[in-house]
Amino acid sequence: MEGKDLEFAVNGERFKVNSVDPCTTLLDFLRLNTPFKSVKLACGEGGCGACLVILSKYDPDSDQVKEHSINSCLTLLCSVNGCSITTSEGLGNAKNGFHPIHTRLAGFHASQCGFCTPGMCISLYSALSNAPGPGGGLTVSEAEKSVAGNLCRCTGYRPIVDACKSFAADVDIEDLGLNSFWRKGDSKEAMMKSLPPYNHLLTTFPEFLKKKSVVTNVLDHSRYRWTTPFSVTELGNVLDESANSGGGSLKLVVGNTGAGYYKDDEEMFDRYVDISRVSEMLVIKRDENGVEIGAAVTISNVIDALKEEGSSNFKKMAAHMEKIGNRSIRNSASIGGNLVMAQSRKFPSDITTLLLAADASVCILNNRIIKKVKLLEFLDSPPILNSKQVLLKVVIPAWTADTGLLFETYRAAPRSIGNALPYANAAFSARVSNQTVDECLLAFGSYGGDHSIRAREVERFLTGKLLSHSVLHEAMCLLRGIIVPSKETSHPEYRKALAVGFLFEFLYPLIDNNNGHSNGHVDDPIESLPLPFLSSSQQVLESNEFNPVGEAVIKAVAALQASGEAVFVDDIPILPDCLHGAFIYSTEPLAKIKSISFGENVTPAGVFALLTFKDIPIHGQNIGSKTVFGPGPLFADELTRCAGQRIALVVADTQKHADKAAKLAVVEYDIKNLEEPILTVEDAVKRSSFFDVHPMFYPEPVGDVVKGMKEADRKILLAEFRLGSQYFFYMEPQTALALPDEDNCSKVFSSSQAPEYVHSVIATCLGIPEHNVRVITRRVGGGFGGKALKSMPVATACALAAHKLNRPVKMYLNRKTDMIMAGGRHPMKVTYNVGFRSDGKLTALELTMLIDAGTEPDVSPILPRNIMGPLRKYDWGALSFDVKVCKTNLPSRTAMRAPGEVQGSYIAESIIENVASSLRMEADEVRKINLHSYGSLRKFYKHISGEEDEYTLPLLWGKLEISSELKKRGEMVKEFNRCNVWRKRGISRVPIVHQVMQRPTPGRVSILSDGSVVVEVGGIEIGQGLWTKVRQMVAYGLGLMKCNGSDELIERIRVVQADTLGLIQGGFTAGSTTSESSCEAVRLCCVILAERLKPTVDQMMMEKSGSVTWNLLIQQVNVSFGFRTSPAYLRLHEY
Ligand SMILES: Cc1cc2nc3c(=O)[nH]c(=O)nc-3n(C[C@H](O)[C@H](O)[C@H](O)COP(=O)(O)OP(=O)(O)OC[C@H]3O[C@@H](n4cnc5c(N)ncnc54)[C@H](O)[C@@H]3O)c2cc1C
Ligand code: FES
Ligand code: FES
Repeated sequence: MEGKDLEFAVNGERFKVNSVDPCTTLLDFLRLNTPFKSVKLACGEGGCGACLVILSKYDPDSDQVKEHSINSCLTLLCSVNGCSITTSEGLGNAKNGFHPIHTRLAGFHASQCGFCTPGMCISLYSALSNAPGPGGGLTVSEAEKSVAGNLCRCTGYRPIVDACKSFAADVDIEDLGLNSFWRKGDSKEAMMKSLPPYNHLLTTFPEFLKKKSVVTNVLDHSRYRWTTPFSVTELGNVLDESANSGGGSLKLVVGNTGAGYYKDDEEMFDRYVDISRVSEMLVIKRDENGVEIGAAVTISNVIDALKEEGSSNFKKMAAHMEKIGNRSIRNSASIGGNLVMAQSRKFPSDITTLLLAADASVCILNNRIIKKVKLLEFLDSPPILNSKQVLLKVVIPAWTADTGLLFETYRAAPRSIGNALPYANAAFSARVSNQTVDECLLAFGSYGGDHSIRAREVERFLTGKLLSHSVLHEAMCLLRGIIVPSKETSHPEYRKALAVGFLFEFLYPLIDNNNGHSNGHVDDPIESLPLPFLSSSQQVLESNEFNPVGEAVIKAVAALQASGEAVFVDDIPILPDCLHGAFIYSTEPLAKIKSISFGENVTPAGVFALLTFKDIPIHGQNIGSKTVFGPGPLFADELTRCAGQRIALVVADTQKHADKAAKLAVVEYDIKNLEEPILTVEDAVKRSSFFDVHPMFYPEPVGDVVKGMKEADRKILLAEFRLGSQYFFYMEPQTALALPDEDNCSKVFSSSQAPEYVHSVIATCLGIPEHNVRVITRRVGGGFGGKALKSMPVATACALAAHKLNRPVKMYLNRKTDMIMAGGRHPMKVTYNVGFRSDGKLTALELTMLIDAGTEPDVSPILPRNIMGPLRKYDWGALSFDVKVCKTNLPSRTAMRAPGEVQGSYIAESIIENVASSLRMEADEVRKINLHSYGSLRKFYKHISGEEDEYTLPLLWGKLEISSELKKRGEMVKEFNRCNVWRKRGISRVPIVHQVMQRPTPGRVSILSDGSVVVEVGGIEIGQGLWTKVRQMVAYGLGLMKCNGSDELIERIRVVQADTLGLIQGGFTAGSTTSESSCEAVRLCCVILAERLKPTVDQMMMEKSGSVTWNLLIQQVNVSFGFRTSPAYLRLHEY
């Protein structure tokens, strides 16, 4: 049967599609086939919210439109047939006016790099749409939770949440933090009025879709099969037809959120059956026997239905389900999909645990026969996936409020709400009279077993028992034997302990305890306590002296970031002949590469080329990155030196094809006659495998440690701990676009913190002069150090492929490849001996540090200096250390947010805590005793210690004690801990020192003929607000001419992308000072421009009786410049 066109709307625009691979996600379609680029691909797993859109569905029976957010990275395009999609730029945009959500996020300073911001806007919009009451029914609590599923790596959630809360009906406007809408001292009324006005209207549902009739088959069926049955009978027919026509692979689809978890096993099926519209599977029915829930009902709808039930137990279930995924996932994810994943793929489900404790059953359709079985039986039966059985519904037996059943659920996850699968969960129901257990159901899940289980042995043991401490203890021991995580489970002991802890938490309050303690948790379950609201306050020191420098102005292009129109590298429109690259990386730490091929020796669809180090041009070099410590290779040569090392680049017609081909690549390795790889720092020590460290980066020891140790009353010897690695998690993965240009030139758009170095590496790799390369970086979607060195091979590989194939080549690393290659922060092993006196005064510290640097030097040789900087914040008496930068067969570690400094501070504090605990002293006391005097500061920091009056740490220490009421708070903490057995609190004050280092950065300021100003700087806008500060500085610098209208000058200044040929020696954007150096560069430009303009200003002042406008001045200068009479060239380039 010929299928009809798939038809839907995006931002009101009609789209008709007849031929599309059914695996195509909505995100793929939006990014590749529409101009709407606000949907960003960050994780592709439903875990970050960067790809959110609003899905609107029209119900012709009620003539109503329902809309909610969904993850476009998981939603399959075909499933939006007949729907309307709205993206962030569809809510509002630069041309038609921004939406108040955009302007409020901008005004509350809630967007830094901006990669996450369009998704935040959609979440907030969806929450506003679904709030009870027409527009404005949102409560503060709902507003705060509205972005719970959205990840932001830069901004910090307080300003984001403040922007969300500004829409809440019950907001106390004075609780909201710093923003650019109101001034200090404004009345509440004035504050309210100054917010961009908001009146919620649903998105407009296009009329052409309202008239569209429902169709079963869409797409050109000769190529692709996508079927949408509308009843169980139709579904049965589809399944029969598929079986009769020889079967073929078939996939049932509801929300397709399962693909977020099982991302790696994407495969193409012969037929897709969308069961999300089967009417019987969408029904929720209640009667005296219980509640029946159709398997295709979304988790959001299940939650709403359970909340409406009389029994509080259902409400507890609903509350637990609200912690599943995030709102947009729950809007698409079906209850049936969850159960089937748990049954067939060992998915760590929350819902199966809840339903087991409720003694639920399920109905299965198998060969037209419907069978009802207990959930446990279903979970224990062979996987139903691929057997073409369909889960039709879930049946929860009646649960009335008066049955006296106790029901509780438990869940421990890395985050309490928002996108975190549980380490373990549990749900218990029990009937207990006079402390005797009459009956109980104890369900546990997600701890690493095959699926959720009932602890039957414990149930049997408890039934009929009078609850006591010994009974509880025995039950817990029994349970420890039952909860057995499988071998591959992470943190198995922790999960076991959690499960046992849940049982304890449930039963303990039922025992007659008269010990006078509150357990602070069982009596007052933390889960049921509303989370305290986030609140924020910022202090802005106001001074008009350098106006507008230092003013909390709106970030440059913040609204554009919110609407999603701000262009990142992957948003640059590409030419039709653009190719795409994906890396094939090594899976062996040390091996010879014998061959690279594709499975069954068939070149995968769309593949154009496979490039290795052999494809480096004859005059070029195999180089993919460089620092002063040396280069790193672009590709492994005959030998791979770490798992994750780049071996080759597959170039294909689409990114999907390139990624798929890279996955299919088969690399043959040979490890014969090779040494064992070095995989630990201990191995590196055994084999003396170290990187050299220049004395410049190796501080000197202080004092005589042997003497210091002798002066000690107490010692801790050979204490040891390890620090792990850390991934950057920039929201925008590594990406680049290379365009071959005339005369053997290459133009590369790179998301990099160091375009100057990207430029130089590309030129060296291609063997062309540096003036043949141009690297352009407009903005970076988060860097944190990861887009410095690690961006270089991505851009270089693209440039190499573009050079070789003479076609544009783009790369957008998928998150897995990105994470495998990233290297991240340096892990290390620390061993120390510390001597101290009984009063807490330190006398000597001897440290040994083994830093795992990985396979290339990268920036690792600076680590000893970076670690020892903050570590010397205390007067250790004497200090000696041995730091080894170990070369191992692991991906090279790189600069990651305060590289070395975080570790240095951690090591210092960890030793202080250890000393304090061995002396049974407060750590705060030990810190205070060991803060430097100016004398010891000079001993430890030498020439960088500054003047005596510049050493303010002890002063700040004292001030903080008073301003924070530290002592009073400490007493409150002690009192709380005395009264609470299970919940504990703490308070701590920690000093931090940071050595500020400035690097010169170029800047150029050009005044155009209409008086607008364009500014270029070497520093890159990575979300830190560099452009905003630069604009402010230029406005200040040019404002010194005191022309009329100078106040508005900032609006006429645009900072533009960094271009490595336009402005050379841009350097690294790192070390927290590039904004300041960029500002200084443009300030110097402005000083000279002002000098040049001064004669004209003076003359005009005389002629115009002391009043000159900026526009007139520039007009005048241009006129005279046209006749070459003015000395005022309006462009200045400075360092
Ligand atoms: C970011 C994220 C976070 C999550 N967090 C949690 C969590 O904290 N706790 C938790 O329990 N779950 C969690 N989940 C899992 C989520 O609940 C499931 O992905 C979802 O319920 C699956 O439903 P779906 O409609 O999207 O199924 P789909 O993805 O469409 O289908 C999943 C599988 O089940 C099959 N299938 C679907 N319905 C049926 C049916 N009726 N009969 C037979 N086969 C069927 C499909 O063929 C497919 O193989 C999370 C998921 C994501 C993406
Ligand atoms: S949730 Fe879709 S990209 Fe992260
Ligand atoms: S602003 Fe949120 S990730 Fe950068």
